[in-house]
Amino acid sequence: MQNYTEKVNSFKEAMSNYPTGVNVVTTVDENDEPIGLTVNSFASVSLDPLLVLWSIDNAVSTFDKFMETDQFAVNILASNQTDIASTFAGSEEDRFSKCEWRLSEQDLPIISDVMASLQCKVFKKVEAGDHVVLIGEVFNIDVQDKAPLLYHKRKLTGFPQSFHEE
Ligand SMILES: Cc1cc2nc3c(=O)[nH]c(=O)nc-3n(C[C@H](O)[C@H](O)[C@H](O)COP(=O)(O)O)c2cc1C
Repeated sequence: MQNYTEKVNSFKEAMSNYPTGVNVVTTVDENDEPIGLTVNSFASVSLDPLLVLWSIDNAVSTFDKFMETDQFAVNILASNQTDIASTFAGSEEDRFSKCEWRLSEQDLPIISDVMASLQCKVFKKVEAGDHVVLIGEVFNIDVQDKAPLLYHKRKLTGFPQSFHEE
């Protein structure tokens, strides 16, 4: 029987070897200031209605603001947006000054040149251990024909262009 530490280590090893896309989830706070963080917990959930999910760590500095908001945008990063992923995962205070972005008609920060952006209304919040799962109902989607950024074994890497073109 594995002890807790052994299980945590095996869990981290298995999950780090599981490749994902990379997103920046954004919203605005009560002063209309943009906030956002890099996320790889994003997944699709349902087609009818259109639902997606992501999970936020209780320890993230903007946690309370994401608990208060009733909407968020998922910006799915393109293969050449490694710098944006690092900025929104780092200690930089003014993350939005490091990239181009705009506010959507619905007041959500949309980062320029992403592979796709999904604007969502909060559908449900589910407490799950040291995270909260935010489920969103998608009300607007913009998709570009771009290769995605990937996260694998703790490294950000562009999706091979040759695969994207096939
Ligand atoms: C590739 C990658 C994926 C991440 N995924 C998540 C995630 O799904 N949920 C989360 O809460 N934090 C995630 N993080 C960590 C946050 O981006 C990071 O803790 C946050 O930006 C720190 O913000 P703070 O300094 O405002 O607390 C991820 C980081 C990286 C590099």
